[in-house]
This record gives sequence, C-alpha cells and structure tokens, in this order.
Amino acid sequence: ETTVTISPAVLSFTAVAKNKNDLVTVPTGYAVGVLTRLGDPIAADVAAYKNDGTDTNFANRIGDHGDALRYYGLNSAGTRDDASNTRGLLVQNHENLNVQYLHANGPTNLPAGPRPEAEAIKEIEAHGVSAVEIQQTGAGWTPIQNGALNRRITPNTPVAFNGPVRGSALLQTAFSADGTAGRGTINNCANGVTPWATNLTCEENWAFYFRRPAAADNARRTAKEVTALTRYGVTSANGNYAWASVTPADGASTIFRRWDAQATGSSATADFRNEPNQFGWVVEIDPYNRTSVPRKRTALGRMNHEGAWPGNFVAGTRPAWYMGDDAQNEYLYKFVSATAWVAADANATDRLAIGDKYLDTGTLYVARFDADGTGDWLPLVFGQGPLTPSNATYPFADQADVLTHARLAADALGATPMDRPEWTAVNPANGEMYLTLTNNSSRSVDRVDPANPRSYQDPPSTARGNRNGHILRLREDGDTTEATGFRWDIYVFAAGSDLDPANINISGLTADNDHSSPDGLWFSRPTNVAGQVSPLLWVQTDDGAFTDQTNNQMLAALPGTVGDGAARSVTSTGADGTTRTVTTYVGAAPGARLKRFLTGPLECEITGVDTTPDGRNLFVGVQHPGENGTPAAPTSKWPDSQTNSSAPATTRPRSGVVVIVRADGGVVGL
Ligand code: FEO
Ligand code: CA
Ligand code: CA
Ligand code: CA
Repeated sequence: ETTVTISPAVLSFTAVAKNKNDLVTVPTGYAVGVLTRLGDPIAADVAAYKNDGTDTNFANRIGDHGDALRYYGLNSAGTRDDASNTRGLLVQNHENLNVQYLHANGPTNLPAGPRPEAEAIKEIEAHGVSAVEIQQTGAGWTPIQNGALNRRITPNTPVAFNGPVRGSALLQTAFSADGTAGRGTINNCANGVTPWATNLTCEENWAFYFRRPAAADNARRTAKEVTALTRYGVTSANGNYAWASVTPADGASTIFRRWDAQATGSSATADFRNEPNQFGWVVEIDPYNRTSVPRKRTALGRMNHEGAWPGNFVAGTRPAWYMGDDAQNEYLYKFVSATAWVAADANATDRLAIGDKYLDTGTLYVARFDADGTGDWLPLVFGQGPLTPSNATYPFADQADVLTHARLAADALGATPMDRPEWTAVNPANGEMYLTLTNNSSRSVDRVDPANPRSYQDPPSTARGNRNGHILRLREDGDTTEATGFRWDIYVFAAGSDLDPANINISGLTADNDHSSPDGLWFSRPTNVAGQVSPLLWVQTDDGAFTDQTNNQMLAALPGTVGDGAARSVTSTGADGTTRTVTTYVGAAPGARLKRFLTGPLECEITGVDTTPDGRNLFVGVQHPGENGTPAAPTSKWPDSQTNSSAPATTRPRSGVVVIVRADGGVVGL
C-alpha cells in the first residue's frame, strides 16, 4: 500500500453561502464553465440543439437528467491513457426526463396514453448512457462532436446477460427465448469503476416504467411471481411515460410493447411478462470500445441499484463493490469477487473479459447493523439458511432466483432496513466505506434503530421521519474487502443549523455546511497530489426538505475515521408526543473540515462528480433544473442563465455538466 499522508489539515476555500440563485455558484478564486448539456450533438452531421421541443435524434445527442459521470483519459492518438489531464471521454448516466421540455407543448396524452410514437422514441432515446470525447484547449474544455469514441447507449441498445442468472427462465421473453440477451438500460443513476477502466452503470427506478396495473394479471401468474412483482413495485397503471400504449407504425416493433409487463400470452416467451427481470442490474460498459456489447453482471444482484463503488484493490485479495438499494427501508449490499486481484489485469485490452473474471463469480452479501456498533455481512447463497425451496414467504428455486430476487433473500436473512441507501464511496487512504442515507419519511418514531436513529419534523413541513438524512461509514474487520464483519458509525447527520442540537443537528452543522438529503458521494482520485493520497470527500444533495433555504449543493470534506467520536443517545419524537431513545455512534463533529463548495440553479439536483487525474479540473453534474416548470413558464433558464443574464423568460432549462477550475491552477478543493 502507498504511504498515506492525510493532508491538508484544513480546507482552504471560503464556504459558499446558501442561496436560491439560478446559477452554479462556486467559491471566490474558482471559475465555472458549462461543458455538456441535454441535446448537444455527439455525432457528425447532427443538427445543433434548438431547445424548443422540436429536436429529434436523441440517440446521437447528450441525454436528459445527467447523473453519475466519469472521466476516462485519452492520449493524443485517442486511446486509453489513465494519466491524461487534457483529453478524455466523459461517460455519463441519463437517469430520467424533464419530459415537459422535450416536446413543443409538453407530452401528449400522459399519463394514460395513447402516446404518439415520435414522442415516445425521443423519450426512450433520451435515457441511457452517453460517452463523449472532451478536450482542454486554450479557451477551456469543449466536447468533440465527432469524437471517434462518442457513443450513446439507450434502452434499445443490445446487451448481454452474464453471471449466474444468464440463461435462467426468469430472463426469457419474446425478445430472448433463451434468456441470454436484452435491450438496453434505463434509469441509470450512480456508477462504479474498475481498475481495468470499464464503467459500471446502475439501474435504479426501472420498475415504474412498466405497465402492470396491480393485480390485473395475477390469475396468469404464479403466487411466487406475484410476491416478487409486488416486492419490487412493478404495479404501475400505465408506466411512467405510457410507452406500452404506442401503436408502432410498422405494426411489428416491440420497443414499446416490451414496457407492458402483463402476462397476456401463452407463455413467458410469447409476451414480456419477464421484461422487468431484465432490469435492476449493474451493467458493465467498455468505454474504449464503442462497438462492445454491454454486459449485465447478474452476480451483483437485482434491486434499485444506486451505484456500485469498489473497495480499494489489493493484489492477492478478493475485491469488493459496495451497493445501495435506493428505496425506503431497503438494504446495503456488498459483492465480493471469487477471484483475487492480479494487478496486471488493469492493463488488459479485452476489458470485458476481465470483467467476466472478477464480476461473474463471487458472493453477494447484505448488511446487518448491530446495536453495539458492529455489523455482519450476510451471504445471499442458495441453500444456506432460509434461502431454500421450503421458505414459506418465497420458496427459492436456485441461485438465479436468489439473485433476481435479492430483496426477498435479504428480507429472509434479517438485513437492516435503511433510510434510502444511495451512493457509496471508499476512502483511498484507509478503505473505509461511506454510505449516503438520503432521507426516509417512513422512519417513524417506533422504527428508529441505532443505524437509522432519527425521526423528527423539519419545519415548515409537517411531515416526520428522517427528514434530512445522514452519512454512515463502515470499517471492515481486518481492513480487508473480504471481511464478513465490520464496525460502523455515523460520519454526519444532515440538518439545518437552526434545528435541535441535541437530537437533530447532532453533528453541530453551521451556516457554512448545513445541508439536507446527501445523495452523491465521492472521494477524490488518489492521484491528485504527487506521491500522496489525499482523501477529499465530496457530498452532493438531492433535497426537497431544505429548498426553503437554499438550492441543492455540493460540499467538500476532510473525513475522519470510524470511531473518532463517541456513543450518544438520540431521542425521537412522534407527532403524538411519544418519544423513543436509542444509542448510536456519532463521528467527531466535522466543524470547518466540512464546507459548502457549490450551490446549483433553481430546482436542480447536484449529482455526478469526477476530476482529471491531477485533481485540477472538477466535473459536476446539474440534473433537472426547472423541473417544476412548464414549456410556457420555465422555472429555470439554466445553463443559459449562467452565461447570459438577459436570456428570454421562455428559455428552457437543460441538465448539464460544468467544469470548475481554480484561477491559480491548483488542486480543486484543497
Ligand atoms: Fe437516482 Fe437514488 O438517486
Ligand atoms: Ca442519486
Ligand atoms: Ca436521490
Ligand atoms: Ca433527481
């Protein structure tokens, strides 16, 4: 392991004040440039984006709702160069839509349909993943419209299934009679990386795109199927955008019908009843090979995958990826590869074959957090414990069934329900894993536990629960990714600085660092200062509880270590005045080691972060500005508002990526 220097002792920048401006605001001494935006063309001969709702061809444009992003270095010849700070490939997820701005007058016939084919095609293609070459010139960073590695992966792109579920009857559909192939990826949220330079994109809220009116097809389903569909929430009356209601002009295309998950035909290969089983996976993409077929890595389980961040890689040790399942009262998971890490694999050229080696065989675990500040990783292995055919709630048939229905397996194992597990991040200096728990309105006072200890009101809302979220951290026993036990504490409780310091603002946040609903989470690249590991932690918010005080934000932190604080009692209070006190483990108050670095424009979420390897160019995603507006009355003009203070009031907002640099050229944040 590298010699570790935790440096510096303080963050040098001045905190950005909370505000509700329609701008990205950064500290004095920093500059912001807009890099990519919804609709930007990423292939030759694609028209510039007019942004009036008439644009088409989103399979060759930057998609909507940019989420997690990653910079992959390129040398001057346009091939992989992990050390390049001046040219790279920006790979970004496109999670969802501000659908009202994609069409001239908003969407036709939502929510129930019938939807026009042309509108549905735009909406489908605006999802997925984009890869676009970017380069630094004298004027700053710019995308390269005809970059040789530019690519869009959409919900229509061919994908393969790998791992234990490949070929299972659970994946068989009218499109894939043998259950080995699929089409595309959707609701891609956070991401993950590998040392062999692939991208892991994660399918989060996929269930809501399917039409399956609750119980409408129960008579054609087995009891097991109904239990599983209900547990995963595949119960929408129309699907988010009612794509299944489209009648295709050619009469044959199934790119719309596939979003109807009802059992209507004679068998699973005659309809799309199993299509929901084709989503909810971690998908590996080789960004350096634009014709490669993405592989869904089923060994990592099926859930609302937020992200899949690896622990630190150590030669001879089996590597691990940490994964949140983002829904209320869902779980934290860890996949441990069966294969010990061989450092030379980082430089292999058949990158997806290396993915096969490490990501197709291994053990999926789920976390149980115990009251004494320890916890256990519980294995999701068919035949062990309750994961057998005789399980009364859900009889498991085989390992493919366990992985496809990881939530049901985790329920049976007694995992700890969490306050919406979002991103994971791993400290490059010591391997500690951090997990954002964004909020949980269903954490009632009678359900608090040591790892999710708060239930309260945050005025002016009258709702209760864990209104503001927290960040938990975990240290593996023996500091190894292979561990089956750990210690944990809570790094920070998010809260307004005006809230009760005894039971709500427990971490003592101030006007310089109060925040709510932490979501994006990322440690700076360990390469950013020569010869030194500099664990700078970035926190991004996706909040509705603090927007009375400020737009969403990003903070920078110099983290501590698990156990640097103390055990502490926290008392929650219900609406009827009942109280409950639990003992939890609270990290040392962050004080000036946590500061607000950036605020975003109106009605945005800040999500997606990376830097160049030298840490001197910070890429940040601004998702869904103006999400509550209409085409006639947009509620944000960003990013135009960033560069043109007199942009017309009808300017439509666009998700985008900004690049932030220090005026003195230094490492951003330090
Ligand atoms: Fe897509 Fe849980 O954020
Ligand atoms: Ca998120
Ligand atoms: Ca979120
Ligand atoms: Ca969002």
